[in-house]
Amino acid sequence: MKSIIKNYKDSKKSIGFVPTMGYLHEGHISLIRCAKKENDIVIVSVFVNPIQFGKNEDLDRYPRNIKKDIQLCEKEKVDILFNPLYKEMYPKGFKTYIVVEDLTSTLCGRYRPNHFKGVTTVVAKLFNIVKPDRAYFGKKDYQQLVVIKQMVQDLNMDTQVIGCPIIREKDGVAMSSRNKYLSKEERTSASALNKALLLAKNLFIKGQTDPQVLKKEIQSLIMRYPKIKEIQYIEIVNPKTLKPVKTVKKGDIIALAVFVGETRLIDNIEL
Ligand code: PAF
Repeated sequence: MKSIIKNYKDSKKSIGFVPTMGYLHEGHISLIRCAKKENDIVIVSVFVNPIQFGKNEDLDRYPRNIKKDIQLCEKEKVDILFNPLYKEMYPKGFKTYIVVEDLTSTLCGRYRPNHFKGVTTVVAKLFNIVKPDRAYFGKKDYQQLVVIKQMVQDLNMDTQVIGCPIIREKDGVAMSSRNKYLSKEERTSASALNKALLLAKNLFIKGQTDPQVLKKEIQSLIMRYPKIKEIQYIEIVNPKTLKPVKTVKKGDIIALAVFVGETRLIDNIEL
């Protein structure tokens, strides 16, 4: 992979990179299409990164379908699909991790303690291998995007990190490989997340700037749906610091994590 990249670099080709954990969907395709528009070469990685999953999380059942991923990448004219093995990414004796402080202790970080350490470590490794000029991430994982931007800035990496809009299904559910876990009834309940975010956005547009009021409205709409098991968090945060705001302003982010049945879904909206 590194020698292929060297050839591209020698011939001054710009490289766009879309890191993924596979089971590609319309959200990933939108990232690939953005990358195609802005770069000479597009590389997609498919690697289910074990070190970003917690002990009781869904690593073993995380959906995989490399054949379909290959077909999709071929259809989208991706130049290279990079699908490394675990033992290549983490050979015996692996000891180095990257931690972005502060930004990783709020929102999802509070409930998934080592998750972002796993994400930044694998993304840094992938960036070192692929040496992308631009890398594309979906805004559904908003905290991930902010954390990766911080890492790139702090470690003087030569990659521009680009956040792309959330792609939603017809019923408003944000595209995610984990949507595969949802039963039909759970799927209906999952649509409550976007409905609640939109409701809060409308209330904000009409003048409501108290985060507690907006959070309560979101909570009560979501809890009306039968398959909602638990709301892990609903937060309204500053888009850069990810700190909860006291008065809601334009540009703030409402982020939430909800268990629909056994499936943990995240979503957010920019005000
Ligand atoms: O967003 C994802 O799919 C993963 O967290 C990423 C960025 C590919 C790292 O494993």
